[in-house]
Parts: sequence; C-alpha cells; structure tokens
Amino acid sequence: MRIILLGAPGAGKGTVAKLLTDYDGSVQISTGDILRGAVKAGSDLGKKAKSYMDRGDLVPDQLIMDIMESRLREPDCKKGFILDGFPRTIPQADALKGLLKKLDLKLDVAVNLNVPREVILDRLTTRRTCSNPECQEIYNIKSKPPAEGGKCKKCGWKVIQRDDETEEAITKRLQTYNEKTAPLIEYYRKEGSLKSITSTSSEEIVSSIKTAIKKGH
Ligand code: AP5
Repeated sequence: MRIILLGAPGAGKGTVAKLLTDYDGSVQISTGDILRGAVKAGSDLGKKAKSYMDRGDLVPDQLIMDIMESRLREPDCKKGFILDGFPRTIPQADALKGLLKKLDLKLDVAVNLNVPREVILDRLTTRRTCSNPECQEIYNIKSKPPAEGGKCKKCGWKVIQRDDETEEAITKRLQTYNEKTAPLIEYYRKEGSLKSITSTSSEEIVSSIKTAIKKGH
C-alpha cells in the first residue's frame, strides 16, 4: 500500500502505521522518527532540526523534502510505504506530488484520523517512547504500559517521554497543526484521494484502511 496518514499530534498515526506494517510489509516512514534519530545521533540534520522540534514548530520544508526524496528512493519502499507525519504543509504536499510523478508511483489514499481534542491532550501527556532510535516503539502509561522498570518490551531499552512533550510545546504543536497541516484535509479531498476516519480504536482504523484500499477507497 502507498498511503499518507494525516491527523493532529497524538491522533495515533504512529500507532496505526506500526500495525499496518505488520499487515503487508509496507514500510513506515515517520519524518518525526527520522528527525529524532538525527537529533540523538548529533548529525548536521539533527542540529538544524532540534530547536524547531523542541518548541513545537515545523522544521523547514526544504530539509524535509531532502530527507524524503532519498528515503523514497530506498529499495524497501518498493513494497509500499505509510507516510506518517508527512506531508505537513501545502508546499510539502505539492513537492510530494512532483516526487511521486518522477518516481512513477501512485498514492492509494490519504487517511485523515479524526480524534477529539480532549482525547489527544490526554494521550500526549501519557505517551512514552522507546529511546532506541532503531525501535521507537510507542507506549502509553494508561493504555499500553512498557515492561517493568520502564523498559521497552521489544528491545529492552529505556522508555522515555519526548522532549516536545511539555505542556507549552504540545499547545504550540496543536496550533501549528491547525494552521499549517489541517488545510491538507481539503487538499486531498479536492484531489479525490481522502478517506476520513473518526474513531479512537486503532484496530477499527486499521480495518477501515484495509477495506478502503481493497475497494480502491
Ligand atoms: P511527529 O513525531 O510526527 O509528531 P506528531 O505529528 O506531533 O505526531 P505524534 O508522534 O505526536 O502523534 P501520533 O499521531 O503519531 O500518535 P501516537 O501513535 O504516538 O513530529 C515531531 C516534530 O518533528 C514536529 O513537531 C516537527 O517539529 C517535526 N516534523 C516531523 N515531520 C515534519 C514535517 N513533515 N515537516 C516539518 N516538520 C516535521 O499516539 C499518541 C499516544 O496515544 C500514544 O501514547 C499511544 O499509545 C496512544 N494511543 C494511540 N492510539 C490509541 C488508541 N486507539 N487507544 C488508546 N491509546 C492510543
């Protein structure tokens, strides 16, 4: 499958993407995970991105497009991909359109995850993430707690709270989402490729996505 997952911070994009990769081997491409990995590794990209991320702002479009162009050319993307957290702005969506054309690839569907704001706020403050850049499994102290001692059930690394999970950064991320990313819902609706799903159950969302893809959405 070749899909885009749209949705506010905390809507469950990462959780749903991981469930979908188990289904047909399509790769999850999360620009957030790539950027956090770069920050942890102290690379040039990480140094450029960190201050934007910590305050809840978007990283400049050109940096993101450089990452995505090389990522989508990697051989594992041939099986399909789930774009999680990308595109995030209209210029990114336009650039993605051009890139897919150049690579001769067609998108199946852009899925919008519609989740009430109070659920989102609760989820973001209770989320924990595996600190291993190769794993980044997502936990939640209420709905999916890590193993004893705050360890990842998959790889055993420490499970931590993200740097952008302060109340101030969360507020800013939601505001940035409303201003810059929410307009993409209309963008993909006009393109005829939008599927909006209102649900707080990841399993229900995954099953709706599978049905949409089978039906040609
Ligand atoms: P990114 O990592 O993409 O953050 P985000 O969009 O804010 O999304 P989140 O990871 O916060 O939420 P999610 O929707 O994946 O939810 P999750 O599954 O974790 O980006 C971080 C930063 O990087 C950005 O702020 C920006 O600076 C930069 N960036 C990234 N991409 C960029 C781009 N394209 N352009 C520019 N800048 C970019 O779930 C949340 C919690 O809820 C978890 O604890 C989970 O366990 C729980 N949960 C999920 N589903 C359920 C459920 N059904 N029931 C109960 N709990 C659930």
